[in-house]
Amino acid sequence: MEKLLAWIDDRFPLTKVWKEHLAEYYAPKNFNFWYYFGSLALLVLVIQIVTGIFLTMHYKPDTELAFASVEYIMRDVEWGWLIRYMHSTGASFFFIMVYLHMFRALLYGSHRHPRELVWLIGMFIYIALMAEAFMGYLLPWGNMSYWGAQVIVSLFDAIPVIGPALSEWLRGDFVVSDATLNRFFAFHVIAIPLILVALVFMHIVALHQVGSNNPDGIEIKKTKGADGLPVDGIPFHPYYTVKDIVGVTVFLMIFAAVIFFAPELWGWFLEPDNFVPANILQTPSEIVPLWYFTPFYSILRANVYNFFWIDAKLWGVIFMGLSIVIFFFLPWLDRSPAKSIRYRGKMYKTALGVFVVSFIILGYLGTKSPEVVSLFWFKNVFWVQGFTVLYFAFFFLMPLYTKFDKIKPVPERVTWK
Ligand code: HEM
Repeated sequence: MEKLLAWIDDRFPLTKVWKEHLAEYYAPKNFNFWYYFGSLALLVLVIQIVTGIFLTMHYKPDTELAFASVEYIMRDVEWGWLIRYMHSTGASFFFIMVYLHMFRALLYGSHRHPRELVWLIGMFIYIALMAEAFMGYLLPWGNMSYWGAQVIVSLFDAIPVIGPALSEWLRGDFVVSDATLNRFFAFHVIAIPLILVALVFMHIVALHQVGSNNPDGIEIKKTKGADGLPVDGIPFHPYYTVKDIVGVTVFLMIFAAVIFFAPELWGWFLEPDNFVPANILQTPSEIVPLWYFTPFYSILRANVYNFFWIDAKLWGVIFMGLSIVIFFFLPWLDRSPAKSIRYRGKMYKTALGVFVVSFIILGYLGTKSPEVVSLFWFKNVFWVQGFTVLYFAFFFLMPLYTKFDKIKPVPERVTWK
């Protein structure tokens, strides 16, 4: 074995990579619960790729055959139901993992200097993931697949001058059709997964260049021992590989419970309208994307007025675009001298709390019709507008409240019990 390893090492840096990224990658010793979600997102990425390969063996990207081929997978292909439910549940779990992973960054300031690039690459991953989920949703050719794609692609119509031509070019037709299904299939099974894998690789390389942050938001590289190693660091392997196995075990239990007992999660993971084949003559009563897009869908529908010569639809598209793009600027909007929430003052804690609540409520309202009267005799759109303002306030006021917030003294070394 030693000879074989030496032979490989002469030709490929196997031992070097193992040491640099696992056995001798020194990670802070105080990682907590919130540090599970990076490795879990990686696990879900692998699950999606593997189950996706098996689905592709039986799926037919043709408007005449697609819906029936998915039913065939569910009923006739051996274990096909499991593969399909793993993939559909996996999509929602992917977003749950990524949202928790991003929230961790906001808790501990992981997006801040020197990890700005880790964050930016993360944002590109997030956008690729959204494109991947959106295109994948068209493939079963259910009624919601069809109308969802129709609504979202036609948003491009709102762009002045080039809009209508652009949306026609994206669809490859005047409406969502066989040409659209074929290109979405190509993007979903090969183009975007390749991009995702490449981005995740870059994400981890960039992280290992600067080193991991931790719940105290302190740079462990600043305090090194006589051996030149960070005194508050421990080798990733075996310490965190073992810790991550605990996360994986709990994750798989919850994942399996959903797949076996509630794979549609009462319409949240698979919508009832998607068990009906696409029908160009019948729109579903309410066209709603899956839960992970609904906060942005709410923001899209928040504005109902035409102002400054721009019509309401275009404002909606602008606000929705901005609500995602603004995340890219977070490392520079945050001016607090402390990175971790442990040492920040009340202002940041309140702002983050209000933001999370707004995001969840916008997500919930995104599944409801804007015209329906809800709480306190106000229509849903009123609440959507209010929480959209709070959503944006988190970002636009950040340079102010992070600057004036009263922080606690940040310790030199990580705290660990
Ligand atoms: C496919 C999706 C993703 C995968 C597989 C992934 C994977 C990872 C892994 C394995 C780590 C190191 C372990 C950890 O800190 O939990 C990490 C760290 C990090 N990720 Fe991601 N990530 C993904 C998406 C994102 C997104 C969307 C963002 C933000 C926009 C992001 C931001 C970060 C940051 C800031 C760190 C450094 C955390 C720290 O050191 O405290 N990641 N990621």
